[in-house]
Amino acid sequence: MVSSNFHILLFLCSIIFLNISPSINAKISFKPKALVLPVRKDASTNQYIVQLRQRTPLQPKRFAVDLGGPYLWANCDADYVSSSYKAARCGSSQCSLADTKDCRDCFESKSGPGCFNNTCRLYPENTVSGRTLISGVVSQDKLALHSTNGFNPSKFVTLPSFVFVCGSSNLLEDLPKGVIGMAGLGRTKISLPNQFSSSLSNFHNKFAICLTSSTSSNGVIFFGNSSYVFLPGLDLSQQLLYTPLIRNPVTTATSPQKEEPSSEYFIGLTSIKINDKIVSIKKSLLTINSTGFGGTKLSTVTPFTVLEASIYKSFVSVYEKQVGNVPKVAPVAPFELCYKSSSFPRERHGPEVPFIDIVLQGKDVFWRLFGSNVMVQVSKDVLCLGFVKAREDFPPKTPITIGAHQLEDILFEFDLDRSRIGFAGSLLGYRTSCARFNFTSIA
Ligand SMILES: *[C@@H]1O[C@H](CO)[C@@H](O)[C@H](O)[C@H]1NC(C)=O
Ligand SMILES: *[C@@H]1O[C@H](CO)[C@@H](O)[C@H](O)[C@H]1NC(C)=O
Ligand SMILES: *[C@@H]1O[C@H](CO)[C@@H](O)[C@H](O)[C@H]1NC(C)=O
Ligand SMILES: *[C@@H]1O[C@H](CO)[C@@H](O)[C@H](O)[C@H]1NC(C)=O
Repeated sequence: MVSSNFHILLFLCSIIFLNISPSINAKISFKPKALVLPVRKDASTNQYIVQLRQRTPLQPKRFAVDLGGPYLWANCDADYVSSSYKAARCGSSQCSLADTKDCRDCFESKSGPGCFNNTCRLYPENTVSGRTLISGVVSQDKLALHSTNGFNPSKFVTLPSFVFVCGSSNLLEDLPKGVIGMAGLGRTKISLPNQFSSSLSNFHNKFAICLTSSTSSNGVIFFGNSSYVFLPGLDLSQQLLYTPLIRNPVTTATSPQKEEPSSEYFIGLTSIKINDKIVSIKKSLLTINSTGFGGTKLSTVTPFTVLEASIYKSFVSVYEKQVGNVPKVAPVAPFELCYKSSSFPRERHGPEVPFIDIVLQGKDVFWRLFGSNVMVQVSKDVLCLGFVKAREDFPPKTPITIGAHQLEDILFEFDLDRSRIGFAGSLLGYRTSCARFNFTSIA
């Protein structure tokens, strides 16, 4: 009795408080715990696309998802019309949040978004093409997306002053058609998850991605503290195994413009097993040294896992041996080991082929790749082992980049507050998939 009266009192207080409380984030009239975005695979580039509403009036704009990317960048050269756009003046709090002291003027013929005097700069990179713009104006504008209760999208949330960086038209090369930039989910103060948690109150610094191989339905990205419910009603937040996130102290940008830690997500891979047979890997390749070389990272912009040449050779030879007496067919680039599709029966997880374990901090902590994550259907009749060899003449800084094909239909939670990654087994094993989040809005 006492406690229920107390609750009513609290409830009344909170109504009064909400009505009179002045707030800089006046547009945020309720406090979402989590946000949600549909994510769609583009068939021609194998990149993943999200649509965000930005600017005033709000306009839907498409961005390629970059899991390890440092921030949102958008082409400001064309069609940037918004009454709420602001460039970040040198010395402003936006510049310090963006961690840049690079201050410049603009001498182009017309000023406008992307060209103002006395503004701070960053260096947006197209991580697909490897091109970098050496002067991108740090900016802010409105950004909006749906909140979620973990089951469906719900009310719209508008962030009045979301920090992003202006890119240019020539930075869009190799991105899907209709995309105007990249949405970085990486480890900086101005990445999407970090800004959501710093600008919304009590919002966990955490997000989860669930990519689908389908190019005609949506996978999902959650931000904040959410359950992750997939039809017909499986909550994956209850099924996660965890591994620590590892920090690479040295930037992994293609053309670094300043010294900073990498914004990408590294994990402590300790071995790779194929049908329980260990792939031999030189130990030194698995740890990150003081110049930032070594280790294993996750990437959504890399379509297929890329292995340093010596690892790749050992990996393919173990795989081929495990497949056994199945005749090979002519390789289809960039893959080397290909078979007739009809050589393998199909099961829930795709073609029935040897499985691969990505083993982490202990022998019981691993995620298992079954047929659909292992093989790529390159044509109606041909399947190839979906891993590629890194260049030998120019070895990659990171010897193992786990690419998107190997992340599909597995949910990964990036918990930045607790510096760990959670993952669940393939959703196909639970008879659902990343395409089965219920996007019917209950707003
Ligand atoms: C920046 O200032 C210079 C003069 O210092 C001027 O020539 C130029 O037009 C200004 N640019 C913009 C975008 O206002
Ligand atoms: C996170 O959300 C779940 C339900 O979605 C809730 O049970 C849990 O208490 C929340 N955790 C925190 C720390 O708020
Ligand atoms: C780190 O590894 C790279 C690549 O193997 C090597 O070139 C570099 O010298 C190493 N740095 C240190 C400090 O050991
Ligand atoms: C999706 O959610 C809506 C709203 O809650 C509900 O009406 C609908 O039945 C759900 N769809 C499925 C397939 O369960």
